[in-house]
Amino acid sequence: MTQKLARRMDRLQASPVRDILAVASQPGMISFAGGLPATDALPSIDSVSIDSASLQYGASEGDQALRKYVANDLQQRGFDVDENRVLIVSGSQQGIDLVAKLIVEQGTCVAVESPTYLAALQMFTLFGAQYVPFSIDALQSEVPGVTLEDVLDSELLYINPTFQNPSSTVYTSTQRRTLATLCDDEEILLFEDDPYRELYYESCDRQPVCSMLRRTSWVYQSSFSKTIAPGLRLGYLTCSANLYPHLLKLKQAADLHSNRISQSLLLTLVNDPLDSLRLQEARASYRAKRDSFNSLLHQYFDSLATWEVPVGGLFYWLTLKTPVPIDTRLLLQDAIDAGVAFMPGEPFFIDSTQAKGHLRLNFSHAPVELFEQGLAQLSSIIAIACQQAADSCQKP
Ligand SMILES: Cc1ncc(COP(=O)(O)O)c(C=O)c1O
Repeated sequence: MTQKLARRMDRLQASPVRDILAVASQPGMISFAGGLPATDALPSIDSVSIDSASLQYGASEGDQALRKYVANDLQQRGFDVDENRVLIVSGSQQGIDLVAKLIVEQGTCVAVESPTYLAALQMFTLFGAQYVPFSIDALQSEVPGVTLEDVLDSELLYINPTFQNPSSTVYTSTQRRTLATLCDDEEILLFEDDPYRELYYESCDRQPVCSMLRRTSWVYQSSFSKTIAPGLRLGYLTCSANLYPHLLKLKQAADLHSNRISQSLLLTLVNDPLDSLRLQEARASYRAKRDSFNSLLHQYFDSLATWEVPVGGLFYWLTLKTPVPIDTRLLLQDAIDAGVAFMPGEPFFIDSTQAKGHLRLNFSHAPVELFEQGLAQLSSIIAIACQQAADSCQKP
């Protein structure tokens, strides 16, 4: 039977990441696909006891002690907020859902970087967003295809300025200040998504742009997924005072409140003095993995692609050196057949036809001993595709 669905369902695409992750978790697969923490970086919960009071319904805002902990962190990042302006969400993916529901309807102009986080595109598209490309470089010089006027007319600007997913880029101090001034002057609603901020491997400016805003409306969010455990499904947001009551109502309507057992577990973990040590060790281990990955990329991909070494975050973003762009989605099945999964670049673009042959490769999750095998396999598949692209260019 064909069921009549809401018209917006025509706009909802299955998340390619979730589809690829299903394959990538098969035994024997070397996965560079998802943004998963390393299994050995996850905390041990064997000795953590959970208060049975967490089995009861709770506050939509989140557990008060956890909100206090988050508010304290936010204050250290330069935010002038207390726990009453903190909303615990069920992963920062829910924050995107709530903001989309709050602002986006059919035809709403949303400015985003391209590439940008694909599940944000998935959500904004569901609610009917029209995209306007934004590039931080356009604040200082012209960028082809990006006009600042369109950005100024947008109802929302979504950015991921610290170790962006997928490109791992990080805004400079000047870019952060210039953007904050622009948003304040032009009253642009800024939505800053910051889940990777604690995974830095070199020093760099990580001050949230939202913490510098003085007048305009804003939403800032981060997550416990990358630093503690994604399975807890917990993140948090804070925002300008005018938006908080609306986001809280949307949260109530969405799921009443986030999982209280997860919140209780999380609070115990973050209050454990050894937890900061665990994070330091994870950082050191990811830095070492990033560097091994880079050496192997040089060994296997020097003639095939270009990339920057990420200062933080979990990904390498490769641009293939082909005479014509290759649709990297078409290489995925061959890679999976060869036992290696990667994330094609196209779904991260507003318009996938603008992609120029990119791959997102995660270096945190796969064991370092399997890096070489995975990258060697992947490079041979890509070498064949690059050769075919070159041959097709030479045909009369
Ligand atoms: C930029 C960005 N935002 C949000 C999320 C969602 O994270 P979570 O819902 O696990 O907090 C991710 C996950 O990879 C991400 O990369």
